[in-house]
Amino acid sequence: MRETKVTREQAISLLKKYNQEPFHVLHGLTVEAVMRWYAGACGRGEEADFWGMAGLLHDVDFEKYPEEHCKKAPELLAEVNAEPELVHAIVCHGYGLCSDVEPEDEMEKFLFAADELTGLIGAAAKMRPSKSCTDMELSSLKKKFKDKRFAAGCSRDVIRTGAERLGWSLEELMEKTLEAMKASETAVNEEAAVLTGETK
Ligand SMILES: [Fe+2]
Repeated sequence: MRETKVTREQAISLLKKYNQEPFHVLHGLTVEAVMRWYAGACGRGEEADFWGMAGLLHDVDFEKYPEEHCKKAPELLAEVNAEPELVHAIVCHGYGLCSDVEPEDEMEKFLFAADELTGLIGAAAKMRPSKSCTDMELSSLKKKFKDKRFAAGCSRDVIRTGAERLGWSLEELMEKTLEAMKASETAVNEEAAVLTGETK
C-alpha cells in the first residue's frame, strides 16, 4: 500500500508558494478530488490520500517553471520531504510531453488520463448557464471533445492516449471523470475560493 507522510496542510502551502494563478490552485484541487474518487472507484480506497496528494501537487512546478515542467518538481517536492513514490507519480504525469519517466502504477495512469480531461470539462462547464458541470450530460461533453476549436489548448491526443494506457474507451474515461468532477465540484470551488480569495 502506498502512503505519504506529506500532510495536506504542507501540500497546500507548497502549492500556494509556487502558484499565484487562481486557476492553477483550482486545477490542483480538482485533480486531487478526481484522483481520490478514482482510488475509491477502482477498489484502492485505502490509498486515496496518496492518489489525492499526487493530484494536488502534480503541476506544482508549472506556473513558475513552465520550461522545466516535471523536471523542477522533485526539487520543490523535497521541501516537504515527498517520498520517492510520490515524486515518481508526479514526474511521470508528463510522460511523452515533458518527462521521460513512464507511468507504471495504475494510479499514475489515472493521473495522466484525468489531468487534461479535467481541463476540458472545466472549460465546458464555464460555458454553461449554470457555470457548473453538475448538469452536464456526457453527450454534451463528447461534442465539446469533438469540436477542435473549443478549448483548443486541451490536447485531445493526450486524453485519447490516457484512455488507451488505462485500457479504457474514451467514452468510459469521459463518463467517469465527469462523474468524479460532479461529485466534488462544490467542495473544490469552495476551498479554491478560500485559498485564492476569488469566487467563481
Ligand atoms: Fe495538470
